[in-house]
Amino acid sequence: MEHDIADPVGTRRVVVTGAGGQLGAALCEAFPGALGLTRADWDVTMPPPPLGPVDLVLHAAAWTDVDGAESEPQEAAAVNVGGTQHAAELGAPLVLFSSDYVFDGRKREPYVESDAPNPQSAYGRTKLHAEGAAGDDAWIVRSSWLFGWTSHNFVRTMLRLGAERDEVAVVDDQRGCPTYVGHLAEATRELVELPRGIWHIAADGDCTWAEFAEAIFEEAGLDCRVRRITTAELGRPAPRPAYSVLRSERPDAPVLPHWRAGLRDCLARLA
Ligand SMILES: NC(=O)c1ccc[n+]([C@@H]2O[C@H](COP(=O)([O-])OP(=O)(O)OC[C@H]3O[C@@H](n4cnc5c(N)ncnc54)[C@H](OP(=O)(O)O)[C@@H]3O)[C@@H](O)[C@H]2O)c1
Repeated sequence: MEHDIADPVGTRRVVVTGAGGQLGAALCEAFPGALGLTRADWDVTMPPPPLGPVDLVLHAAAWTDVDGAESEPQEAAAVNVGGTQHAAELGAPLVLFSSDYVFDGRKREPYVESDAPNPQSAYGRTKLHAEGAAGDDAWIVRSSWLFGWTSHNFVRTMLRLGAERDEVAVVDDQRGCPTYVGHLAEATRELVELPRGIWHIAADGDCTWAEFAEAIFEEAGLDCRVRRITTAELGRPAPRPAYSVLRSERPDAPVLPHWRAGLRDCLARLA
């Protein structure tokens, strides 16, 4: 019957893990009627609770403390690798959100799906192993530098610091694609109608963290200077790729708006 195929997303029973996080919150909005599970509902290091029939799992729960993963790699792996195994045990097609940090950052042109991963951090290694744990019935979405209207993220930190200070020091030797979770969640609706496998989905355009900070202050009307520093000067425990711009080599890949459009949408949401 024709109505059976009219709205395949709308008729599926969708589960969102990590619903308390920034991407999970956006996915719950993009998939109305989805069952959003926070850590309190399901700690993904444990086997899944009884959920009844599930048609699609959007797995956004993760250990995202990149520096913390260096000192607690096993705990990070329990969430990112073990948690993905448990999400796959629900037996439904799965969307796993992975990261640009699976790459070493030595390229100077965008990373595409066929490029070989070579993670340099404990977090990056857990995300790569999670890709393997997702199984064959999965879309692996590699995205980057996520920001949204909830949780801790660079935009919200800069808005706070920009209101308190005249100057902030920001790294200018890492280049990537700041991706608005609202745009990524909408693209995920398109993605689940496409074949399984690895997909690079990140905002159009690219910048350094310092350029991103300057754009945040400009768009928000904050009078705060950005002092450009190096990754070495910042001295964080986990290595980050110097260059991790993601693009898709797949012709039908969802295309996201420019990061600056994502920034404007996010700021409008936070106003
Ligand atoms: N943030 C980025 O820049 C970025 C870039 C590329 C890819 N990604 C990937 O995108 C996905 C979403 O990231 P995000 O930015 O939305 O992260 P987030 O805001 O940190 O959200 C992650 C969520 O997972 C939850 N969580 C952590 N441990 C859990 C556990 N054991 N059981 C259940 N839930 C648990 C967290 O809960 P608590 O708040 O209680 O800890 C949090 O609500 C992740 O897979 C991440 O690796 C993120």
